[in-house]
Amino acid sequence: MERYHLTRSHNSEGYELTIAEVVEHDPALLPVLTELDLLSYAEPTFSRYTLGGLMRFGRIYVIRADELIIGVCHTFRSFSDPDEMVIFNMALRPGWRGHGLGSRLLAGVLERMKEGGAKRVVLAVASNNHRAIGVYRAKFGFRHEDILDNEFNNGQSYHLLRLDLAEWAASLPERITDSIGD
Ligand SMILES: CC(C)(COP(=O)(O)OP(=O)(O)OC[C@H]1O[C@@H](n2cnc3c(N)ncnc32)[C@H](O)[C@@H]1OP(=O)(O)O)[C@@H](O)C(=O)NCCC(=O)NCCS
Repeated sequence: MERYHLTRSHNSEGYELTIAEVVEHDPALLPVLTELDLLSYAEPTFSRYTLGGLMRFGRIYVIRADELIIGVCHTFRSFSDPDEMVIFNMALRPGWRGHGLGSRLLAGVLERMKEGGAKRVVLAVASNNHRAIGVYRAKFGFRHEDILDNEFNNGQSYHLLRLDLAEWAASLPERITDSIGD
């Protein structure tokens, strides 16, 4: 578990930020994660059943500010390449975006994936999601590998991005000071 300090805008107490892997299957988390999903996307990405399946058989990471879950990252292992992890989705509650917290969550997730023996991470992100692409590519060094046209049958194209975890770890000190900030 990691701890960060973020100054509250209205006082100087700060929030205690923690990033954690959901280790125990916890059905009580499902409504919270469903709500976060509905706050983030026009169409639901998950149902309680897909989330419950991911919680038990995939890997879910959360970032909390004090006790409140403010962000989540859903992942699973690639079937075609067991050395590769898939980030299926990452989202923060709207009011918490743009303060470096998504980057902190992602750094925590990548660190744990690497510790767990994964070699690569792959994801698909909507081509018009410039902020997310900025995070993945500019801040973490994900490489653009392909354009996936109409990947989800919604007429939208997606960027297929891939990260080599050893390369990322080697560039960490400079990336942390350059991009992730405090
Ligand atoms: C994507 C998401 C998780 C990123 O988390 P975040 O906390 O907002 O991101 P951060 O603050 O860590 O970093 C944002 C970076 O993107 C950059 N950025 C913002 N808007 C941008 C744009 N239009 N184009 C390019 N870069 C942009 C910012 O400048 C910042 O980089 P900097 O710190 O070097 O200035 C969050 O915004 C979110 O939940 N979005 C909605 C859900 C979503 O789109 N998820 C991704 C789908 S896989």
